Amino acid sequence: MKVLLLNGSPNEKGCTWRALKEVSDTLQAEGIDTEIFWIGKKAVAGCIGCGGCAKNHGRCVFSNDPVNEVLDKMEGSDGLIVGSPVYFASPNGALVALLDRMFMAGGCFRMKPAAAVTSARRAGTTATLEVMNKYFLMSEMPVVSANYCNMVHGHSADEVEKDLEGLQIMRTLGRNMAWMLKCMDAGKKAGIVLPQAEAKVKTSYIR
Ligand SMILES: Cc1cc2nc3c(=O)[nH]c(=O)nc-3n(C[C@H](O)[C@H](O)[C@H](O)COP(=O)(O)O)c2cc1C
Repeated sequence: MKVLLLNGSPNEKGCTWRALKEVSDTLQAEGIDTEIFWIGKKAVAGCIGCGGCAKNHGRCVFSNDPVNEVLDKMEGSDGLIVGSPVYFASPNGALVALLDRMFMAGGCFRMKPAAAVTSARRAGTTATLEVMNKYFLMSEMPVVSANYCNMVHGHSADEVEKDLEGLQIMRTLGRNMAWMLKCMDAGKKAGIVLPQAEAKVKTSYIR
């Protein structure tokens, strides 16, 4: 079993990475493989709503940024953790652009446990988590919880090291994610199949 951890910060080894590393180390200690994927510093275009992904085997028509690479990785993963720094009380804009296109294009999310984590100097964490959690909740992904909101505080990875509560939350999240994955695997082996998926009904409020 494998969990993909997406570092949505332009800082490869910053606060968000430090939080994700705590989750990743805990998952590994529980026997789950992990990969931390950094989205990088390059521009990520927003979704243009062209519908091309529906005709492109679930891949975005733009191929000059990591969206399709992350979708390929997600295809082979059983769980997802998305991390972002707080930027003006929201996730990093480049990450939001990436998530919009990933979740519009991909069909590789259903019933895979997911969680969002965030890092901030001070404020805007719960609003940021809310934005990220919505991708999971709209995609039939069971959202894994910890023993408080999934946030760490600091302005550098060294400062996060001192946020003992934040790091405990990350370890708790890792253990809870591992437990859920093991339960799902046991269920699968016992013959419990995924819930039936209905063809999507799409109405604009009433029609
Ligand atoms: C453009 C920008 C906006 C920011 N907005 C906030 C904010 O609204 N609230 C806050 O507490 N920190 C804010 N910060 C600080 C970062 O969220 C914080 O330092 C974070 O831990 C950095 O994570 P990283 O090292 O993974 O990039 C902002 C930083 C930048 C660059």
